[in-house]
Amino acid sequence: MSGLELAAAAVLGSQLLDAKYHVKDDVLLIRKVVASAVPFLINCYRGRASYWYYFEKTVFKYPNNLAVSFPRPLKDGPSAKIDENGYAIYDDQFHLEQYTYKELYDMILRLSYILKFDYGVTAEQTIAVDCMNKPLFIILWFALWNIGAVPAFLNFNTKDKPLVHCLKIANVSQVFIDPDCQEPIKDTESLINEELPNVKLHYMNEVELLKVLSDKTRPKHRAPDHTRRPEDSDHSCCALIYTSGTTGFPKAGIMSWRKAFMAAAFFGYIMKIKKNSNILTAMPLYHSTAAMLGVCPALLSGACVSVSQKFSATTFWTQAKLSGATHIQYVGEVCRYLLNSKPHPDQRAHNVTIAYGNGLRRDIWPDFKERFHIQGIGEFYASTESPIATTNLQYGEFGIGACRKYGALINLITSLQQRLVKMDPEDDNEIYRDPKTGLAILADRNEPGELLMKILNAKNSEQTFQGYYGNKKATNSKIVHDVFKKGDAWFRSGDLLKMDDDGLLYFVDRLGDTFRWKSENVSASEVENELAGTKVVNQSVVVGVRVPNHEGRAGFAVIDPKDEYLDTTKHEEVLAKIYDHVNHSLPKYAVPQFIKISREIQASHNHKVPKNQFKNLKLPKGELGKDLIYWLNGDRYEELTEDSWLKIMSGASKL
Ligand SMILES: *[C@@H]1O[C@H](CO)[C@@H](O)[C@H](O)[C@H]1NC(C)=O
Ligand SMILES: *[C@@H]1O[C@H](CO)[C@@H](O)[C@H](O)[C@H]1NC(C)=O
Ligand SMILES: *[C@@H]1O[C@H](CO)[C@@H](O)[C@H](O)[C@H]1NC(C)=O
Ligand SMILES: *[C@@H]1O[C@H](CO)[C@@H](O)[C@H](O)[C@H]1NC(C)=O
Ligand SMILES: *[C@@H]1O[C@H](CO)[C@@H](O)[C@H](O)[C@H]1NC(C)=O
Repeated sequence: MSGLELAAAAVLGSQLLDAKYHVKDDVLLIRKVVASAVPFLINCYRGRASYWYYFEKTVFKYPNNLAVSFPRPLKDGPSAKIDENGYAIYDDQFHLEQYTYKELYDMILRLSYILKFDYGVTAEQTIAVDCMNKPLFIILWFALWNIGAVPAFLNFNTKDKPLVHCLKIANVSQVFIDPDCQEPIKDTESLINEELPNVKLHYMNEVELLKVLSDKTRPKHRAPDHTRRPEDSDHSCCALIYTSGTTGFPKAGIMSWRKAFMAAAFFGYIMKIKKNSNILTAMPLYHSTAAMLGVCPALLSGACVSVSQKFSATTFWTQAKLSGATHIQYVGEVCRYLLNSKPHPDQRAHNVTIAYGNGLRRDIWPDFKERFHIQGIGEFYASTESPIATTNLQYGEFGIGACRKYGALINLITSLQQRLVKMDPEDDNEIYRDPKTGLAILADRNEPGELLMKILNAKNSEQTFQGYYGNKKATNSKIVHDVFKKGDAWFRSGDLLKMDDDGLLYFVDRLGDTFRWKSENVSASEVENELAGTKVVNQSVVVGVRVPNHEGRAGFAVIDPKDEYLDTTKHEEVLAKIYDHVNHSLPKYAVPQFIKISREIQASHNHKVPKNQFKNLKLPKGELGKDLIYWLNGDRYEELTEDSWLKIMSGASKL
């Protein structure tokens, strides 16, 4: 890939402007891209593709800048003003832990020593990080980068078979576990030992470990450069990030050095992340949003990354205030939770000027800015595995709701690389093909179409799109050929977007078998498989349904019960059995929120159940207002009455 191509590809993901045709800003951005991309490529050729070198550069440039800030939740609630370590206790609920770049670097080197000499970690290994949001996550991650090992970021909620699967597909050899999130892996330990006897599980003692890592007398290990995978190129794997996408078990999305660097350099530039910025993230670090678009830009520019252990609507602004955040990361749900919560004394007592993330909906966008005193919203569209991202840093009135807003120049370049195509009216998962030419057709203005991203070198697609680790089939399924001309190749985003008359892009919906709920992807077929395992279900169809005032779609399972369970008097038993099963076998976000027990599922002639008929199920009582539908209230399914439906819509009852 040439420098220019690289630059062009990067430009695609970016834009700056607040008005329609700011070519001047486009030019500035393109200059920035070229100025960073070229040295990056040169470094790759010199065997220094790793982000580690950029991190070290920041450390030496800004040793005394704050690198990591952590409002650590106090386990025992309100307590004295100063704890035994001498930490000041703020607002009774947190004490603030902070590390400068120098301190962070030293801790990383001390941990590297331990990993290398006590645990035998090498550059050939993939090591799972099973950790909540806290400094230890970042220390562990960068120690692995120092050694040259590949970190695999486990979602610490994953358990049972999916967890075994995650370890297996990534060829994980050791797992380092944070005691605060050890339950799921503890529960799965015997299964892991049985199926993957070579995987070593290490439960860390965080308190002890942090003491050791800050002990200046402890040895450090800065791995020699020739051991840090000097053969890596720009598109080599730097980390594995699991996605819960499409079908079945999680897949390990490959992050490349290029992505880590691009995200850091350009995303950081667009979001105005500078050496005195402070980015608070309450999004899980095991996702690419927080890791690649939060931590990486911060540590490239000398900024501070503030980690919140867990998102909490009641303490979010307090944490923003305590950590001194200038930027926050969001997903749409989080913004809604914050808006739905009671006025908070700290909601404007912070220095946050930019909130960036994805999924902020148009209907709450202005209120969010207004109420929390946020000047700029950096809405973007990206996915863990997609080669490019789009952004819209929005101030003022223009561009509300959009996830891409370019100036005219970048618009022109991107029209070659990112396109929306018409979908088949018969099957809205398929790209429509012109019957005469067999080629796809661009979607009209304001018409939703799937976003495709061009794979620059169709013969060597992994240069653009690295796909999923050890899963060629899934990787290839994301690539579509012969789209606009014979021989071309495009990455399928799997998302419907539309473009308005001003050329702004808007997210519309997710395609196909997955839907988003609580910012996770739920795979309908995975849920159906689990339901099939309950012994009371003959067949089921799972779809996502919209619930007013909620982001995404909630899982709705239509259940065709075994004959002996059809009668209404048996429903309670069926529901209890289902819950008992899915409570253990599915992650919480995937447990169906609504269930209807009926005989209405009919397979079509090709044995595929036409799901569309279920996609717009009407709540609470169906199209004719007399269906019996159940909803998950806490940990049991109950009849969905008009009253409970009102409570759900108003947020008084929680889904
Ligand atoms: C799996 O990891 C080990 C190191 O832990 C490595 O030696 C081996 O080659 C890896 N296997 C594959 C298929 O990548
Ligand atoms: C906000 O910024 C000002 C000026 O830099 C600083 O004095 C103040 O302490 C900051 N407030 C918070 C909550 O970080
Ligand atoms: C959801 O799916 C998208 C597209 O496949 C992926 O990029 C994203 O990381 C997934 N989200 C989660 C939480 O796994
Ligand atoms: C289960 O579903 C299949 C497929 O729709 C159907 O043919 C069969 O009769 C059902 N069996 C029972 C016991 O209901
Ligand atoms: C659901 O699972 C959790 C643990 O994963 C357990 O504490 C809870 O009791 C279960 N609920 C029911 C109703 O079985």
